[in-house]
Amino acid sequence: GGSNPFQHLEKSVVLQEARVFNETPINPRKCAHILTKILYLINQGEHVGTTEATEAFFAMTKLFQSNDPTLRRMCYLTIKEMSCIAEDVIIVTSSLTKDMTGKEDNYRGPAVRALCQITDSTMLQAIERYMKQAIVDKVPSVSSSALVSSLHLLKCSFDVVKRWVNEAQEAASSDNIMVQYHALGLLYHVRKNDRLAVNKMISKFTRHGLKSPFAYCMMIRVASKQLEEEDSSHDSPLFDFIESCLRNKHEMVVYEAASAIVNLPGCSAKELAPAVSVLQLFCSSPKAALRYAAVRTLNKVAMKHPSAVTACNLDLENLVTDSNRSIATLAITTLLKTGSEGSIDRLMKQISSFMSEISDEFKVVVVQAISALCQKYPRKHAVLMNFLFTMLREEGGFEYKRAIVDCIISIIEENSESKETGLSHLCEFIEDCEFTVLATRILHLLGQEGPKTNNPSKYIRFIYNRVVLEHEEVRAGAVSALAKFGAQNEEMLPSILVLLKRCVMDDDNEVRDRATFYLNVLEQKQKALNAGYILNGLTVSIPGLERALQQYTLEPSEKPFDLKSVPLATTPMAEQRAEGTPITTVKQPEKVAATRQEIFQEQLAAVPEFRGLGPLFKSSPEPVALTESETEYVIRCTKHTFTGHMVFQFDCTNTLNDQTLENVTVHMEATEAYEVVCYVPARSLPYNQPGTCYTLVALPREDPTAVACTFSCMMKFTVKDCDPTTGETDDEGYEDEYVLEDLEVTVADHIQKVMKLNFEAAWDEVGDEFEKEETFTLSMIKTLEEAVGNIVKFLGMHPCERSDRVPDNKNTHTLLLA
Ligand SMILES: *[C@@H]1O[C@H](CO)[C@@H](O)[C@H](O)[C@H]1NC(C)=O
Ligand SMILES: *[C@@H]1O[C@H](CO)[C@@H](O)[C@H](O)[C@H]1NC(C)=O
Repeated sequence: GGSNPFQHLEKSVVLQEARVFNETPINPRKCAHILTKILYLINQGEHVGTTEATEAFFAMTKLFQSNDPTLRRMCYLTIKEMSCIAEDVIIVTSSLTKDMTGKEDNYRGPAVRALCQITDSTMLQAIERYMKQAIVDKVPSVSSSALVSSLHLLKCSFDVVKRWVNEAQEAASSDNIMVQYHALGLLYHVRKNDRLAVNKMISKFTRHGLKSPFAYCMMIRVASKQLEEEDSSHDSPLFDFIESCLRNKHEMVVYEAASAIVNLPGCSAKELAPAVSVLQLFCSSPKAALRYAAVRTLNKVAMKHPSAVTACNLDLENLVTDSNRSIATLAITTLLKTGSEGSIDRLMKQISSFMSEISDEFKVVVVQAISALCQKYPRKHAVLMNFLFTMLREEGGFEYKRAIVDCIISIIEENSESKETGLSHLCEFIEDCEFTVLATRILHLLGQEGPKTNNPSKYIRFIYNRVVLEHEEVRAGAVSALAKFGAQNEEMLPSILVLLKRCVMDDDNEVRDRATFYLNVLEQKQKALNAGYILNGLTVSIPGLERALQQYTLEPSEKPFDLKSVPLATTPMAEQRAEGTPITTVKQPEKVAATRQEIFQEQLAAVPEFRGLGPLFKSSPEPVALTESETEYVIRCTKHTFTGHMVFQFDCTNTLNDQTLENVTVHMEATEAYEVVCYVPARSLPYNQPGTCYTLVALPREDPTAVACTFSCMMKFTVKDCDPTTGETDDEGYEDEYVLEDLEVTVADHIQKVMKLNFEAAWDEVGDEFEKEETFTLSMIKTLEEAVGNIVKFLGMHPCERSDRVPDNKNTHTLLLA
């Protein structure tokens, strides 16, 4: 009756049935059916214990006596599925090797696959000979099976599989399209860490031409990956190869090449043109799959290179009425991105005529197009926002609704004129919103943007309704939003206090705690408190705070706990909160893992010379190499910044097996007024055992943070020759030196990233006293986007209020960094 015949299987019953395997003569149909049931159960996630599995497995091995092809293939499948559940599966090795080298071609491929699945690296050598033969076997399915299995084996037995490249080379010139494809795949994965070898391989195989369109597609992907990593100009044989594939006789290859070209970063209009024109041809293909692929790709190109796509506008217009709605949606949204302002109304009308017919996935495409349009044509906000609000009111899943809310939020954040309408529509939406994450996100936004509007009080009713009607996560979000109104608007403060007082008796402790906390802060009526505790919140690392407090309770002291001793948050915790997720829904890690900075802090605290430096302010995110790779000594430096000092930590490795170094220090000379205080040597540096030495430097007294400085570095040490085998040293040593590369200290070393949700409040809180004005030259920078990126990197600060995103078509921009 069409229902699943395996639906009510019981594991114990099925395993009982497996006893049939021991009967003679074997009944192939019955046994194959039982194996199917076992596989079904395993695939449904049924837990099969080791003993049960081993028993069934051993019974199954008897079935090799039958020559029924269906049963045999079920056996191969069972072996693969059970290989990691049952014990002693290698018992079938000889049966499989026999099948793999036997006369029955249908058995050989699957036998290779099963054999490789049960073989571990120690046993691999025993079957190496067979694998090499199988790779070059003249039966394509055998050769492909061996190649694909080798690819899997590569993960754990790289060195053995590497020895099969000659065979793989031979298979790569096979006439069979799958064998060629699989062989090239294996060759690439063996060589992929060697750029030159990969380049050589591409040029070799493409010079002689390939039979397999799949192999071409893979080579195109490999070539574009190389190009991207090389970051070089497109004036390279790799690019020429991809471009030549635009003229291949297989549509698959042509499409792959076009898609690779349009996705390459930094393509010029001239380089794009041939790729776009093949996509244009595909637009009028009778095959839906080609039209779909072409319009989907053009849709993506339109984001970055709208002008390149305008050439296809006519073809895209023809697709607007395509009976395949996915194609129509993509065509319309592409036109929206490339078309003129005048065509927007017409296109939007067209698309609304079939919005109800398309899936959520494509509705998201529409939302993204609207979002792009809003940035481009601010005058069209009203029309587009209305469209979004209609969509918001209709049925839809989480992803779709989130895309709409994201889009509205970004419009609101970037355009002050649309703020009021946007906020009131969102208020309406949360009145009846089934998605907690969206509700809290919007409440967060209301708290942030609402107080700055002309009539803030109109939002209070919506927010307070949430406190009354919702479950605790949303209530907590609503309480925080209320507090933000109170913190920024004196007139409303008394009413906000009344509302918060009603929340201090809430059933949920998070809601209650928030209300109590905000109430007490607000009652102080101090701007600085509001800014620090309501508008911007904690900026310390929460796990760090937990540790510091625990430490403080272990060693109680007269001195009050100092929040400044806690490392600042650089973890996504702050980010997650910024997204508006209330803290209760953030998953707490089981055990608070020590951050990198905390580990450093502990290590440095153990060095007597560094007592009294105060809390560690910052450690540089990545060690800098001061030697080239493959030199006799490998030295890497991590910079630690304290209030008045810097500690340079040098991690050293001695790669000479006939030397031991002792009393190793790194001497530093600064171009600015930094002063070396002391060197903490690494006592001994035997061959290949990493050691650490430190140099402590005092910052210049006046304006310590203003000066970028370059240090020249010299490693000094005593060398003792030693016996490479025993490690025993001569008594006599001699002093030696080794010049290292220069080390830079930059502005970013003195700056810690923090999250500030309300930049203005944070700015006011800091006050004029700490203001500083500087002029920088931005040389060699072509776009605003690039300038913003460089400034963020140079200062090492955290972009606030999404100001690192530069809207298109703007020629001035304000970047806010904390
Ligand atoms: C549109 O065409 C593509 C490609 O052939 C296909 O995958 C998709 O299911 C079609 N969609 C509709 C709504 O017909
Ligand atoms: C270690 O080296 C420093 C110079 O780098 C030197 O002043 C000091 O005396 C040496 N110490 C020992 C114990 O050799």
